[in-house]
Amino acid sequence: MNLLIMGLPGAGKGTQAAKLVENYGLAHISTGDMFRAAIANETELGLLAKSYMDGGNLVPDEVTNGIVKERLAQDDIKEKGFLLDGYPRTLEQAHALDQNLADLGINLDGVINIEIDPSKLLERLSGRIIHKQTGETFHKVFNPPAGDYNEDDYYQREDDKPESVARRLEVNIAQGQPILDHYRAKNLVQDIEGDQDIELVFEDLKKAIESLKS
Ligand code: AP5
Ligand code: MG
Repeated sequence: MNLLIMGLPGAGKGTQAAKLVENYGLAHISTGDMFRAAIANETELGLLAKSYMDGGNLVPDEVTNGIVKERLAQDDIKEKGFLLDGYPRTLEQAHALDQNLADLGINLDGVINIEIDPSKLLERLSGRIIHKQTGETFHKVFNPPAGDYNEDDYYQREDDKPESVARRLEVNIAQGQPILDHYRAKNLVQDIEGDQDIELVFEDLKKAIESLKS
């Protein structure tokens, strides 16, 4: 099964992706995570990505298309299937992905679109905390770590500052619609209500995926 998961920043893509890859054994390909790993390793790609990400802007298409193309060509993809999270983010990326998959002989089975009103997203992003050791994502209020936790074990993302969040939302709202239209024309999109408990979103997602299988 080869899937995309789409939604505005904070919609819950990463949270649901972690559950889906565990449940279905898919390879999780998150361009945001790939860029953050490159930043942490202080590579040339990381340096470049950081200059865009910190301001809430998109990394240029040719760079992003290049890293996804390389990842999709790896052996595990055909064995496990994939869940692409945060890509494509522009219509140009969607066209590049179509071409790339066609070249690899891989079919896209569905596009999961997590819908949420943008007014809900600031509190999602400002409360997000990530466990330093495991990379697991939590929320101070909506999804706190179990028991008494030590805040020093968690960090907040650079681009979750209010200035960056406003720009991220602006960019993603503008770019998202044409991509969804592109996939709706192919009859691939499954819309999911994102403004409900994490477990309920997951239940809806599993139903949507089962309907794609049948
Ligand atoms: P990326 O890392 O993809 O960030 P994003 O799209 O802005 O989305 P987020 O990761 O912030 O949100 P999410 O939907 O994963 O939410 P999460 O599950 O964490 O991209 C970052 C940057 O990298 C971009 O701005 C760009 O610069 C660059 N980039 C990446 N891909 C690119 C591309 N293709 N092209 C160009 N540039 C690219 O949840 C958020 C919070 O809410 C968490 O605290 C969570 O616990 C909580 N939460 C989740 N679900 C619920 C729920 N149902 N109810 C209550 N709380 C919830
Ligand atoms: Mg994410």
